[in-house]
Amino acid sequence: MSTIRILLVLPLFQYTLGTQKLKYPELRRDESLVDDYYGKKVSDTYRYLEDPDSEETVNFVLEQNKLTEDYLSRNLIVKESIEKRLTEVHNYAKYGVPKKHGSRYFSTMNTGLQNQDVYYVQDTLDAKPEVFFDPNKFSEDGFVHLSDITFSNDGELVALGLNSKGSDWMTIRIRNVSTGQDYSETLEDIKFSNIAWTVDNTGFFYAVSSYLCNIECI
Ligand SMILES: *[C@@H]1O[C@H](CO)[C@@H](O)[C@H](O)[C@H]1NC(C)=O
Repeated sequence: MSTIRILLVLPLFQYTLGTQKLKYPELRRDESLVDDYYGKKVSDTYRYLEDPDSEETVNFVLEQNKLTEDYLSRNLIVKESIEKRLTEVHNYAKYGVPKKHGSRYFSTMNTGLQNQDVYYVQDTLDAKPEVFFDPNKFSEDGFVHLSDITFSNDGELVALGLNSKGSDWMTIRIRNVSTGQDYSETLEDIKFSNIAWTVDNTGFFYAVSSYLCNIECI
């Protein structure tokens, strides 16, 4: 009896999914922008969307999100099955290769479903790894992402590049590796910059975005 019921319900469900019409947000085409590549004209009708802060772009993104969320909330079983499968395939412990900085070894480990890998430190390869930096616990909302970790040559100091909420803007903190204490100063206004320590471990170079090509040194 129950088998028959299931057989009847499934085709109906699939039918419902297949016939739902999605109404995509309407997008303005800007026909005025035409690039000229060595005589070949190529129009770039949606370039105005490259400005992520314009009202038009913001509204377009909001409308697209609404469309997706409406669809997923009406088809919870789809969302749940995707979520379940993604969770399954991501849920295994992941280990990074240890790297030596100064006298210590550093490696990353993720127990499976942690948003970000945790950095561990050990004095010898046989020693028990201790947590050195856990980006998941760095902020209360867990939205701070560790995008750069660069050790001084002697491994006694480390510069930690942190981004908040998916932003490209980076803040650099400096940590004393022995004590685990951070310096009180933080460096701000950094975007797409590397961190390069001087060989004598007294400071590092980084680029501040607001002054193009102006390299500062602590
Ligand atoms: C780290 O802190 C310890 C204890 O305050 C200090 O002796 C050491 O010089 C510091 N290391 C660096 C590289 O500043």
